Amino acid sequence: MYGMVNKAIEAMVTADHGERMWEKIKRKAAVDVEVFISNEGYPDEMTFALVVAASEELDTPVPLILEAFGEHWILKTALGDYGDMLSAGGSNLSEFLINLPTFHSRVSMMLPHLQPPRFRLISTGENWVRIGYGVTP
Ligand code: HEM
Repeated sequence: MYGMVNKAIEAMVTADHGERMWEKIKRKAAVDVEVFISNEGYPDEMTFALVVAASEELDTPVPLILEAFGEHWILKTALGDYGDMLSAGGSNLSEFLINLPTFHSRVSMMLPHLQPPRFRLISTGENWVRIGYGVTP
């Protein structure tokens, strides 16, 4: 997983629970990385261990941690650090969703080893968009 993902978990935990809690979570997950580098790859297991340790330390089920992470990722990481990239996805929600299948190609230019998610536009209507995820284009 790219460092930006672990960094975002760190930012979310420290914003809500402080640095000491983050250190505790890292210790529990047996992660001894001082600073995550956004564009560097880390083993997926490290991210999973951090999420599980956060779930235990914060007494919050993993699905709720992941949901909070999704919100944090879009509102803080994407809007804050990658705002231009996010804006280039479209000027309203339906445009953004229609462009979603190609969105991570732009991310790939910055991160050449990215294994992007696979979204597929299935159909659109006046006020709806149907998208497939994880299906072969
Ligand atoms: C500027 C905004 C965004 C950036 C910089 C970004 C970046 C990334 C990166 C780096 C990964 C790969 C993580 C890894 O395996 O190392 C990823 C995966 C993914 N992204 Fe994004 N992303 C953005 C927005 C979005 C949006 C808007 C969506 C969906 C609505 C999305 C959905 C996903 C999904 C589903 C994955 C795959 C996760 C997996 O492999 O399990 N991303 N993204």
